[in-house]
Amino acid sequence: MINIAIDGPSGAGKSTIAKSIAARKKITYLDTGAMYRAVGLKVYLTNSDMYDENQLSNILDNLDLDIKYVNGEQKVFLDGKDVSKDIREHHISKLASDVSAIPACRLKLVDLQRRIAEKSDCVLDGRDIGTYVLPDANVKIFLTASPEVRATRRYKELLAKGQKVEYDKVLSDINERDKNDSSRAFAPLKKADDAVEIDSSDMTIEQVIAVIDEILSQKGVF
Ligand code: DC
Repeated sequence: MINIAIDGPSGAGKSTIAKSIAARKKITYLDTGAMYRAVGLKVYLTNSDMYDENQLSNILDNLDLDIKYVNGEQKVFLDGKDVSKDIREHHISKLASDVSAIPACRLKLVDLQRRIAEKSDCVLDGRDIGTYVLPDANVKIFLTASPEVRATRRYKELLAKGQKVEYDKVLSDINERDKNDSSRAFAPLKKADDAVEIDSSDMTIEQVIAVIDEILSQKGVF
């Protein structure tokens, strides 16, 4: 199977880029962050204490999480309900980041991710795909951008969705999540030694895609 790993911090453009590659190469797109968000949402909905071992294992052991593709778009189902929109709510981001630092949660979701990657050609975006989930991925990209550029992109996205937020809050949340995601002990956000780093701060999406297409053809992947 062909596996392409796109890792990097929040708001670097990973999902837009990964979706475009998947659509053009006709392969599966797996947004692994959405899976952590679904667990974060479950913690929120059940008002659970994620740091209580029993409460967390109750959530993980009974996790009814399904990733489906509707008209080529990834939809996330939790307990049979389409929660694709709910998991994008601003307050779920921090919960997702917190719960993703807990090894039991990572082990559970990494197992699901590996099973999907084993049976289909896919492009996965996340934080630890190249370093931990799929260390043998055919191509590894580490996509970054400055915190200010990422905050501006996220701010515009949230406004467009009608969510009321302040830019300064978005920036401070991004910095906090970067710190959280990079400093956790287990499979932190980190560039794999053999990943190609692309700083998208001053690049358009089309430019980033062109660079990645070039890398894919150099590697003889597509
Ligand atoms: O990509 P995102 O913002 O939707 O991800 C939400 C959170 O999930 C993020 O703060 C870190 C975590 N995450 C992770 O730890 N590992 C991944 N492979 C993907 C996301």
